[in-house]
Amino acid sequence: MTTKVGPREHAIGLHWTQVETPAPFVDLPTLSHNLATMAERATEMVVDIRPHFKAHKCVELARMQVEAGAVGLTVATASEALALLDAGINDVLVANQVVQPTQIEKLAGRSSEVRLAVFVDDPANLSALATAARKKGGEIGVFVEADSGMGRCGTGGPEEARQLATLADQLDGVRFEGVSAYEGHTTPIEDSRERSLQTREAIEAMIGSAEAIRADGIAVATISAGGTSTYMTTGADPRVTEIQPGAYALMDVARRNLLDDFAIALSVSATVISRQRTRAVLDCGHKAICSQQAPSAPVGAWGEITALYEEHLVFTPTAATPALGEQVRLFPGYGPMTVNLYDRLYVLSEEHVVAEWQIAARR
Ligand SMILES: Cc1ncc(COP(=O)(O)O)c(C=O)c1O
Repeated sequence: MTTKVGPREHAIGLHWTQVETPAPFVDLPTLSHNLATMAERATEMVVDIRPHFKAHKCVELARMQVEAGAVGLTVATASEALALLDAGINDVLVANQVVQPTQIEKLAGRSSEVRLAVFVDDPANLSALATAARKKGGEIGVFVEADSGMGRCGTGGPEEARQLATLADQLDGVRFEGVSAYEGHTTPIEDSRERSLQTREAIEAMIGSAEAIRADGIAVATISAGGTSTYMTTGADPRVTEIQPGAYALMDVARRNLLDDFAIALSVSATVISRQRTRAVLDCGHKAICSQQAPSAPVGAWGEITALYEEHLVFTPTAATPALGEQVRLFPGYGPMTVNLYDRLYVLSEEHVVAEWQIAARR
């Protein structure tokens, strides 16, 4: 019987089948290819890349992104920002509202040492950020978030954006940096022409806010937007200065269905725990792999998935289906949520573990 290591033991040097399942793996050559491809595209489009950390939550991977030319990282939460700052990555944009006083305090405490910026869509929140940073002798950068049409956070239109930027320009403790809007409602559109068309509309909503601010004599240094499936439209707009794609690094089935610029580097291993005549079962349910946004898919041709439960994945076997007790791998439907289910990612080269990366800031 092959020796196996458990999820809390070290696995460097082992074949992926020697790690207890379910376990998440990153194929290093595929990841490197994805990073290089995005860097090349950004150079062609003359746009900065600020990759979204939430898609992988690994500081080692974030460092690779900086080495590949990223100007800094985008994050979704204050704890992700602190994880990056602790790892020495000191140019971070929190692409979200930070309103809890304790979190504002923590970010303000770092704001004199690093370049830290957050999204704002509310004057009281903006003032709270300014007061906290001033008290610490620092300065927090702010981006006015415009609603791209997604209907998530963001100011109600150019006039509100202008008022907020004017306030930011006047307050000590904050530094107005620019305008941002994430076009999350256009990223899943299957038809690429339609996706591009609707993304252009979303960009116009954001540019309208930037123009209103500029008309008041306030410089808008950065206009930041864009995800993995829209970067080619957002990044090609000469008015956009920075893109924030996240999923492109590890990829997943949902985005692979939309574009083939990048390959899937992330997979989850599973063991065949039941093998009947017409069906077989893996130990890889919702708690091990996220099939939100798209169904997870077999790596190879070992079967057709028919049902997913909390701890079980049921599939129809093929001639290539391994025997009871053997392992297979799956590509996750949605990568960012899959990563968040684990403590660490095992990094593979030629099917062997060459590194282990901790997943930071899971809450
Ligand atoms: C504000 C913001 N920017 C960028 C992204 C990156 O999107 P993707 O992971 O599809 O590249 C997201 C994803 O949710 C986001 O919320």
